Amino acid sequence: NYPSQVRIVDVSPRDGLQNIKNSVPTEVKTTLINKLCDAGIQHIEVASFVSPKWVPQMADAEAVLQQLPPREGTSYIVLTPNLRGFERAIDSGAKEVAIFAAASETFSQKNTNCSIAQSLEHFEPIMLKAAALGVRVRGYTSCVLGCPYEGDIAVAEVVRVSKALIDMGCYEVSLGDTIGIGTPIKAREMIAAVIKAVPAEKLALHFHDTRGQALANILACLEYGVANIDASVAGLGGCPYAAGASGNVSTEDVVYMLHGMGIETGIDLKKLVAAGHYISEQIAGPNLSKVGAVYQ
Ligand code: HMG
Ligand code: MG
Repeated sequence: NYPSQVRIVDVSPRDGLQNIKNSVPTEVKTTLINKLCDAGIQHIEVASFVSPKWVPQMADAEAVLQQLPPREGTSYIVLTPNLRGFERAIDSGAKEVAIFAAASETFSQKNTNCSIAQSLEHFEPIMLKAAALGVRVRGYTSCVLGCPYEGDIAVAEVVRVSKALIDMGCYEVSLGDTIGIGTPIKAREMIAAVIKAVPAEKLALHFHDTRGQALANILACLEYGVANIDASVAGLGGCPYAAGASGNVSTEDVVYMLHGMGIETGIDLKKLVAAGHYISEQIAGPNLSKVGAVYQ
C-alpha cells in the first residue's frame, strides 16, 4: 500500500547551500529556484532567516525571497528559528515558514543555542503571529535516527517533540535523519511509533544520504503511507552544526524511484536533472545524484 502520489519538498537552496564554503550569489540561488519551479517542484525551501553570524551563507535571505516571482500553486518555504527571524521573513513576503526542533538535547544546543524545551518556547510567539497572518508553519524534528553528539536517540523523544510541533499548530512535521545514520528497520520502527501520535498525512521524511541509506529508509517509510518527501537536487546539503553531516537524498534519485514505482510527483525528471547540473557547475562541486550522472 504505497501512496499513489507523493509531494516533494526540494530543500537544496537552503539545506543544500547553507553548508558550502564559498558564498553563492543571490542570482544563482534564484536561478536554481526558478529552474526547480520549471521542473514542476511546487514546494521549495528557499532560504533561512537565521543569524548570519551562525550561517553566513543565508545572509541574503531577504534578497532571495524578494526576488522570486509569485507563482500560483508554488510555496516558497523559509526557516525561522525565533521571532526575529519570523519577522524578517514576513517583512520579505514569506507565506510559509518552517520552525526547527530536535529530538537530541545536545544537537539542540549546538544548532540553536538552547534546550529542546526553550526552542519550543521560542516557537510559541511565532505560531501566534503566523495564525493571525494566515502563514503556514511546517515543523522539523532533527536527529530522528541518531545524533552526531549523543548517538542513539530514544524513539519516544522523537514522538514527543514531533507531537509537540503538531499540537502547537504545524500543519506537518518533517522527520530529519540529520546525519544520514539510519537503516531501514530502524526507520520503520521510528515511523511506526510516530504514526501512533501524528497521522501519516502530517509527516514528511527529511533524510540525509551520508551513508547511502536514504532511499532504502524512504521506501521503508512509504510503506506506512507517508507521502511527503524532502530532497535536494544534486544531493546537496548538510547542517553546519551536525558534525559529519552531508547531503540530503538527491531529488532526482527520489523522483526516479517514485516514477519507476508508478507513484506520481508532477515533476519533469529531465528538467530536474538539468537544474542539478546547473547548480553543481555554479558551485564547482560534484553532482551527487546517481540519476543525474546517467542523464547528462
Ligand atoms: P543566539 O546567539 O543564542 O541568539 O543564537 P541571540 O538571541 O543571543 O542573538 C545573537 C545575535 O544574533 C544577535 O546579534 C542577534 O540580534 C542575532 P548581535 O547582538 O550579536 O549583533 N540574531 C539574529 N539575526 C538575524 N536573524 C535572526 C536572529 N536571531 C538572533 N533570526 C539562533 C540563536 C537560533 C539565532 C542561532 O543559534 C542560529 O541562527 N541558529 C541557526 C543554525 C542553523 O541555521 N542551522 C542549520 C539549519 S537546521 C538544519 O539544517 C536541520 C534540518 O535540515 C533538518 C535535519 O536535517 O535534521 C532543518
Ligand atoms: Mg537537513
